[in-house]
Amino acid sequence: MRFLVAYLSQTGNTRKVAEAIYEVLEGEKEIMPLSEVESLEGYDLAFIGFPIHASNPAAEAKAFLEEKGRGKKVALFVTHAAPEDHELVSGFLEKCKAAVSHADLVGMFDCQGELSQAVIDILAKSDNPKYREFAAYGPQTKGQPDDSRLEKARVFARDVVNKLKGT
Ligand SMILES: Cc1cc2nc3c(=O)[nH]c(=O)nc-3n(C[C@H](O)[C@H](O)[C@H](O)COP(=O)(O)O)c2cc1C
Repeated sequence: MRFLVAYLSQTGNTRKVAEAIYEVLEGEKEIMPLSEVESLEGYDLAFIGFPIHASNPAAEAKAFLEEKGRGKKVALFVTHAAPEDHELVSGFLEKCKAAVSHADLVGMFDCQGELSQAVIDILAKSDNPKYREFAAYGPQTKGQPDDSRLEKARVFARDVVNKLKGT
């Protein structure tokens, strides 16, 4: 099988998850920033990762999926500052699913990612109340994604591949 792991990551959280997923894939595999992906042609499965920005998939990722995801087998991995069990997270994930409604979504993983101090400062000063709300999560996001979350990402990747092989 031929796999692509592509990620959008401003502060490194989603890249860490991408690397954990990439580690456990067996076969032909490539990993690269989303901005370097010309096409999803020729891959059996593309793992595509990005952060949540203002309760939505980051705009560049959404545009990428709309432009290049049509009819392609994709698995999404998403990071956000909110804890996984926060009431807003299911809404974030619905928006992510909507961004791949024209693709063949075979799995989705999400986990918390640290808010860097630079990002906290920017969000706290924003006019957008959603951004200000997420600045408040700063302290409790430190060190995420941690080892246990990265291990969950590895399990996710193995499960998705096994599911694909079984079909
Ligand atoms: C402009 C901006 C908006 C954000 N909005 C949200 C949000 O609405 N909900 C949330 O849980 N996290 C939000 N975050 C936090 C990021 O999703 C989180 O820190 C993510 O792990 C960053 O991933 P990265 O390091 O790969 O860029 C926002 C971050 C930025 C920079």
